[in-house]
Amino acid sequence: MAEVKTVGVIGGGQMGSGIAQLAIVAGIDVWLLDSDSNALTNATKSIGNSIQRFVSKGQLSQEKAKDALRRLRCTSSLEDLQSADVIIEAIVESEDIKKSLYTDLDRIAKGSAILASNTSSISITRLASATSRSSQVIGMHFFNPPPIMKLLEIVRGGDTSDATFMTVKALAERFGKTVICSQDYPGFIVNRILMPMINEAFFTLYTGVATKEDIDTGMKLGTNHPMGPLELADFIGLDVCLSVMRVLHVGLGDSKYRPCPLLVQYVDAGRLGRKRGIGVYTYG
Ligand code: CAA
Ligand code: NAD
Repeated sequence: MAEVKTVGVIGGGQMGSGIAQLAIVAGIDVWLLDSDSNALTNATKSIGNSIQRFVSKGQLSQEKAKDALRRLRCTSSLEDLQSADVIIEAIVESEDIKKSLYTDLDRIAKGSAILASNTSSISITRLASATSRSSQVIGMHFFNPPPIMKLLEIVRGGDTSDATFMTVKALAERFGKTVICSQDYPGFIVNRILMPMINEAFFTLYTGVATKEDIDTGMKLGTNHPMGPLELADFIGLDVCLSVMRVLHVGLGDSKYRPCPLLVQYVDAGRLGRKRGIGVYTYG
């Protein structure tokens, strides 16, 4: 099994920043890349704040926190990822944009490097087809917020090798995650089940069954979920939820997965959730 010393993370949004944090805390050097320099500034701040929360709870020493932060380097140049043993991609949930990145990555990454996608739903087999190393492409699906959530869903594409799987599984364990393994079908395991529930919460709101507050309180207190489904959609990002529903709808061909028109309208209006200050709810 290949030893992982350097990880590249592409996309410094809410997921990529959390994934970079997991790697530096695990003692791995990280290159964090984003095409937007503001995203890198925000990622550095949010990693610092999150690590500080672990320090103040006594779960990480001040020294280890400093060491971890020293391992983080930010860049906007793909060439800097040439030294990475594993590159974890966490950019926007669009198959076309991801595929174009995979073609570029295949060109610049070293021959032995594994390319892992944090996609919420897109076919790993199709992303791999944009490269000449499909046996080294795999899904590493983290959950939001990555430093807190205990799960990692590993998705094997049609060509993913056992060696790639074993390296990524060992890396997940260094991150302290429990691993589940999914075949490459739309939405994998968790989002196949979670997103239709969120979509149904939008239909419940859209058809006037109840207020957003009562829908969320109902699911929080009635089923012991930490967040109601509409609050969770805002937390995930409504754009991500809509993209996943579209992948389920097209990929599984069943009208039960059609995205709720209200979810579509919110995304069209730029109401993407917490990251934009407005989604189902408004944030101060
Ligand atoms: N960094 C460090 N610590 C953090 C943190 C972060 N980013 N976010 C939360 N925490 C810590 C807090 O310090 C706090 O710790 P203590 O209990 O020890 O004090 C704890 O987590 C709880 O945080 P808060 O008190 O701030 O808030 P909360 O109780 O509402 O918990 C939450 C926040 C952990 C996010 C919780 O609401 C939750 O579990 N929500 C559901 C999240 C979920 O379902 N995620 C999966 C989404 S689906 C997905 O990710 C897949 C996909 O493809 C879309
Ligand atoms: P986000 O919008 O917070 O961040 C995406 C980042 O990618 C942005 O900073 C953007 O500037 C950058 N980016 C976009 N295109 C790029 C490119 N070509 N090259 C470099 N950087 C680029 O999104 P997110 O919520 O972090 O989601 C990222 C990925 O993780 C998506 O595939 C999403 O489906 C998946 N995911 C999201 C969640 C969640 O709860 N939000 C959970 C699990 C998986």
